[in-house]
This record gives sequence, C-alpha cells and structure tokens, in this order.
Amino acid sequence: MRLCINIDHVATIREARGGIEPDPVIAATICELAGADGIVCHLREDRRHIKDRDVYLLKEVVKTKLDLEMALTDEMVKIACELKPDMVTIVPEKREELTTEGGLDISSVEEKLAEEIDRLKENSIKVSIFIEPEPRFVDKSLEVGADMIEIHTGKYSNIREYKDRVIELEKIRQTAKIAKELGLGVNAGHGLNYLNVLPIANMEDIDELSIGHSIISHAIFTGLDSAVREMLTIIRRVRP
Ligand code: PXP
Repeated sequence: MRLCINIDHVATIREARGGIEPDPVIAATICELAGADGIVCHLREDRRHIKDRDVYLLKEVVKTKLDLEMALTDEMVKIACELKPDMVTIVPEKREELTTEGGLDISSVEEKLAEEIDRLKENSIKVSIFIEPEPRFVDKSLEVGADMIEIHTGKYSNIREYKDRVIELEKIRQTAKIAKELGLGVNAGHGLNYLNVLPIANMEDIDELSIGHSIISHAIFTGLDSAVREMLTIIRRVRP
C-alpha cells in the first residue's frame, strides 16, 4: 500500500500571513525522507493555498511521484501539460467550498473529460478521476480513458453510526474490486486519519492512499517526519 501526502495545508498556514513560510516544497522533501511514496498538491483556481511557484518547484524537487490535483479547466490542463507531473487527479471544484466535497459527476462533462484526458496522456501524464464509491462511476472512468480512480472516502470518514459505516465501507470495497478487475489503478482518500484509516488500508484492491489534513495537523505537535512515519506504521501493519 502506497501513501501519498497532500501538502496543501502547509501552504494554507503560509497563506495565513501571506509570507514565505512554511514552505510546502520543504514539506514535500521531509515527507519523502520519512518514507512517503508520493506528494499531492491541489492547484485551485483561486490559488488559496498552493501557488504556481509551488508546483513548478515541486516538479523539480519531488523524487518519488508528483500528483497534481486539479479541476477540469482549460487553464489547469494547460499548466499540467507544461509541468508534466507524474499524474493528475481530476476533481470537481467549487469556489465556495472549504475542501473538495465529492466525486466528479463524469456524465455532465464526459466529452470534455475524454478530450482532455487524451491531451494529458499524449504528454505522458497518468490520469486519475476522483469518484464517489459507486460502480457506475468506475465504468464511466474507463470509458473516458482514465488510468486510475481515486475513491472518495469523505463520507465514510464523517459517518458516526457503526452500521452506516459498514455499509459505506462495503461500497468502497466493491467499487475498488470492480475497478481493479477492469484494470484501473485504485487510489482512495479524503478525511482519512490515524483512527479511521485501518479498514481502508486493509482493502486489498486499493493501491494507494492520499492523505493530507490529518497528517499536517498531527505534524504541528509531533513534527512532519514523525507524523508521516506514524501513518506509515499503521498502514504497513496491515499492508506491508
Ligand atoms: N483526495 C482528494 C481528491 C482531495 O481533494 C483531498 C483534499 O485536498 C484529499 C484526497 C486529501 O484529503 P484530506 O486532506 O482530508 O486527507
């Protein structure tokens, strides 16, 4: 099981003062040295945390894998094709949201999505689509040419009732299984933390987790190196 760290919130703290620290590029290096398998950052249309300068420096510095999270806009596709990250994850984006709120409604953008995925793949960039845990979105992801899906675990993370959690976990498991059988790479993320990650990490059809907020939050108390290593210890206990 691979662990990729989303470093957006290092940039969020920097932007609280609009200065130069903490630098998400330095954070990326610390995450990699602690054993992370990749670095994720979301260049949002409003540039509220990660800036263009960050993504270009991350491309130079990241040695493992750089995953650029982005909305399906002409501007972002252009930046991705210039930058050439190892992969992009296409997410829906609303200006007013605090964080990505759900998976992409593929049907509403199917034609553009297929065209832009072609462009990205022509530039040797692998493409993942952030989806809700429903098999119909796996079929659609395959149809539009994605290499991977990322299953949204946000709903699972927010559920308090045990029986509802079990139902949501089963949806995630089934979606991962179907995607894997169809030959897609399977990632998962959103809202995962030190307490809720285990059942997801335990799913054999999931290849990679994308975790940000909980690790960056924990790092305030423990340091980033420890925060990454602690998460790796939990995940690797069940999926070496
Ligand atoms: N995956 C996607 C597609 C996301 O948008 C985010 C949040 O930026 C994450 C994973 C990481 O979520 P969290 O910060 O809650 O760990």
